[in-house]
Amino acid sequence: MRKIAVVGSINMDYFVEAEKLPEIGETLLGNQFFLSVGGKGANQAVAASRLGAEVALFGSVGKDEISEIFIENMKNETLDIKNLNLVEGSHTGVAFIEICNSENRILVVPGANDFTDVSYINRVLEGLLTYDVVLFQMETPIELMEYLIPILHEKGKIIIVNPAPAHKIKAHLFDKITYLTPNEHEYEIVFDCKLPMEKLLINYPNQLIITCGTDGVVYYDGQEIVRVPAIKVEPVDTTGAGDSFSGAFAVAVSEEKNLYDSIRFGTIVAGLSVTKKGAQTGMPYRSEVDLLWKEELKHEGEDHAIEN
Ligand code: RIB
Repeated sequence: MRKIAVVGSINMDYFVEAEKLPEIGETLLGNQFFLSVGGKGANQAVAASRLGAEVALFGSVGKDEISEIFIENMKNETLDIKNLNLVEGSHTGVAFIEICNSENRILVVPGANDFTDVSYINRVLEGLLTYDVVLFQMETPIELMEYLIPILHEKGKIIIVNPAPAHKIKAHLFDKITYLTPNEHEYEIVFDCKLPMEKLLINYPNQLIITCGTDGVVYYDGQEIVRVPAIKVEPVDTTGAGDSFSGAFAVAVSEEKNLYDSIRFGTIVAGLSVTKKGAQTGMPYRSEVDLLWKEELKHEGEDHAIEN
């Protein structure tokens, strides 16, 4: 199996849950408060390692109590964090997450994540280049991704970019990215264009993969637009669903599953992850996913038999 490196953010998530979210200038009482380790980079790395892949996280934390909690938490995961950048004089990233009716809105203060930069990556580049699949998000400086993609491409690495939160990607990088996975709200910003989704997909066959929440995931296979369905679950908290998808997709790609199956593997993991509160709390382990995977294949067989 190929090894996966995640270059990305690490946050402490401060969750509040309420039946209604306040308007500007309004004060309301919430129902629940909890803390949980998060950050899109850390979440994707945890998602991938729980699925049995060999994964390393490249990112930064402050020298503070929050990073101690993060490091303690990672002892329960099989994730390699030996390249972590411990930043003096900055705080570990924090995210304030409001949950209402299983949906969320998130405000991130990056802190030490801003130090996941070119100077840090040059110190750990040799180690990073021993990985085969490299997964990015956009909560760390965009300049780092712009610097690294050509280097990784030149070395023949598989590059997956989950452009969240959305940011424009420079045009010359597109042909170096193996898979780009924006959601239905992000793709217009990423490509800085107003093309309808289908038109854009046709320009990037088997490369652009757009996630559409409960409507599944779409891509163009060179002949037609393919929609991979989402699995049906009762969502409790959708925080980290995109991260679960990305981590799982990277694992499936590293196992050389075909594109359709890699996406389907991602949708199963994302579906399972939203059945619990917190980003990493609900991320499933391999045995749970394999069970559901077999069920899905069985249903597919049955549907196929009925069609015939
Ligand atoms: O994608 C969910 C994540 O976004 C949270 O864990 C939060 O830290 C923000 O980065």
